[in-house]
Amino acid sequence: MHGGKGFGGGEATRDPAPTYINPNDPKGKQQAIHKAESFAEYLAKRGGGGGAMPSRPTSGRRPIVGGNWKCNPASPYDLPALVANINACDTSSCDVYVCPSPLHVGIVYQSFNNGAYVAPQNCNFKGCGAFTGEMAVDQMEAMGIKWCLIGHSERRGEFGLPTPAESNALLATKLAYILDKGLNCIFCIGEPLPIRENGIDAVMAECRAQLNEILPILRGLSDHSRVVIAYEPVWAIGTGVTASPMQAQETHAGIRQYLASAVSPQLAANIRIQYGGSANAANAPELSAQPDIDGFLVGGASLKPEFAQIVAAIAAAKASARF
Ligand code: 13P
Repeated sequence: MHGGKGFGGGEATRDPAPTYINPNDPKGKQQAIHKAESFAEYLAKRGGGGGAMPSRPTSGRRPIVGGNWKCNPASPYDLPALVANINACDTSSCDVYVCPSPLHVGIVYQSFNNGAYVAPQNCNFKGCGAFTGEMAVDQMEAMGIKWCLIGHSERRGEFGLPTPAESNALLATKLAYILDKGLNCIFCIGEPLPIRENGIDAVMAECRAQLNEILPILRGLSDHSRVVIAYEPVWAIGTGVTASPMQAQETHAGIRQYLASAVSPQLAANIRIQYGGSANAANAPELSAQPDIDGFLVGGASLKPEFAQIVAAIAAAKASARF
């Protein structure tokens, strides 16, 4: 862990012109927030309190939880137990998807009996042909696969993998291809620790940078449920250090506000934003209570039976928010 300002800093920004738009403005006007003021501070002044969005009991967004198995398990003989964890989930009030390792997608993709979706962890953007080592969206489509995950920080160059980092431009190309082929997409973003240590404005600048290339695609999206943003702070992935509910809520709200201004208030209200990073059965209930957290992208805990409890936690939290 680096020293310094800590995670919730909100220190002066290096962002040239961040502007948050408030869709809850009672007069329906778009209202810019001063650039040195974090969204949480802004809300606190308005009476939003504690960095949380004003209460929005009916988001209309169906919760969604994904299990990213990453490069696990080693042996295919361990797959049935992992499949059982997914099949144990109650999907009646929550979408569930699972990202098996590329080698295992073809083994397990017809094993889910509760409507859980299979979402490969990557794809190419050229279709079938002479692309050694790639997974074509076209192949996924032919297998009946409905979702694909892209942009994970482990593919964006984090954790020192000696493979070329995937750029924002490449990921936008992949997203366009996925949607064009009729699949849906989980699009991952998130900041590394040194950026978090510079405060929320720096975090939001990084999130915007990771989203900017896909804004034209989002503007053309008629069904807003087809893209899910997975916000996964890199410093929380696999570390056991979860973002606090307030940190996660503040960032999710900031992402939503940015999408409101850069795409449309309708898309921002509809699009689902998942939290990822050391999510587990113990911390899921409190994170689920945050109004802008619509689900989780789970790594380590998706390899355990507790995954079903995470699904149950967000389903319960959002169901109780409706009444
Ligand atoms: P952990 O839940 O193991 O921190 O992993 C999160 C993640 O990277 C999911 O994509």
